[in-house]
Amino acid sequence: MNIAVIGLGYWGPNLLRNLYETRRCHRLVACDLNASKLERAQLRYPSIEVTTDFNTVIADGDIDAVVIATPVSTHAPLAQAALEAGKHVFVEKPMASNKEEAMQLIELAERRQRVLMVGHTFEFSPPVLKIKEVIERGDLGDIFYISSSRVNLGLHQKDISVIWDLAPHDFSSIFFWLDEMPKYISAMGRDYVQRGIPDVAFINLEFASGVIAHVQVSWLAPSKLRRTTLIGSAKMLVYDDTENIEKVKIFDKGVDYKDPETFGEYQLSYRAGDVVSPRLDTYEPLFKEMEHFLDCCETGQRPKTDGYNGLRVVKALEAAEKSLRNGSQVVEIE
Ligand SMILES: NC(=O)c1ccc[n+]([C@@H]2O[C@H](COP(=O)([O-])OP(=O)(O)OC[C@H]3O[C@@H](n4cnc5c(N)ncnc54)[C@H](O)[C@@H]3O)[C@@H](O)[C@H]2O)c1
Repeated sequence: MNIAVIGLGYWGPNLLRNLYETRRCHRLVACDLNASKLERAQLRYPSIEVTTDFNTVIADGDIDAVVIATPVSTHAPLAQAALEAGKHVFVEKPMASNKEEAMQLIELAERRQRVLMVGHTFEFSPPVLKIKEVIERGDLGDIFYISSSRVNLGLHQKDISVIWDLAPHDFSSIFFWLDEMPKYISAMGRDYVQRGIPDVAFINLEFASGVIAHVQVSWLAPSKLRRTTLIGSAKMLVYDDTENIEKVKIFDKGVDYKDPETFGEYQLSYRAGDVVSPRLDTYEPLFKEMEHFLDCCETGQRPKTDGYNGLRVVKALEAAEKSLRNGSQVVEIE
């Protein structure tokens, strides 16, 4: 396969490294508007080709696919141009700036019979996949609620709020676990550092199944938290992505309600059993993600994180941002 990586800022070099390490790319082209970023990449991987011009990449008939890791506002125009030029497209999360753009990309990819994959990396990560397995086995019982914190002293983005930057990870993981997208979303947030660009948000999600979730995202916190708690009728689970080894812990904890047999009998019994940390695979999620993209390009198979998977995240982000900007009004998602 001949692949081009577009955008070599913070994230693009990770995609380039993993594509290089698959050893499945005959030609690997790196493209960035900034020539110094290309020089750095070529020093590290002398065999790659570099260019500052996206149009020469898509005009190159030998390039099979592009991997886009540019700022969010450029995702849809670049992906659209690449699909129109007949390339398969991998586009970073969130796939577009609004649901209309996302839908246009899905339709275009279908019309041109090209692969469209979205970079929801967490859906390839061992802890997120293990949690899916645990839920599907019924170990947690019925899921009651999910609560998640993704905060640190983060890089303030100039073009998007903290919701569009950080919440895609939580949304894609939660929707993947529940196999469902929310019906209602509301959010409260503030733009403390840069006017008009919220840097902290508290988002509430309500699902038709009855599950509720809370996602807290912030670029303004003293220490890094990447912690998600899932509370089920049978067990509880804590996923801490900052842990090195025991990222997932399952607690045999809960409260059982018993119908009283005699008047005055105590009705609640508290359970506190074993804590189990399941063994996790140790591969790098991005490597699996890039391998999956190459597989899909080669076989025409639909990616696990396809355009519709990306669209549901964009719909939820849009709803959260709308609520935040309208006094936390609840927004219904179609
Ligand atoms: N999946 C993940 O876990 C993950 C993590 C971080 C970032 N991301 C995503 O990756 C994308 C990039 O984020 P970043 O933090 O690296 O941004 P960044 O601003 O550091 O880098 C973007 C790069 O794109 C280049 N660029 C912009 N327009 C271009 C064009 N037309 N042609 C060629 N190059 C162009 C810029 O020069 C810059 O070097 C974002 O969509 C972000 O959401 C994903």
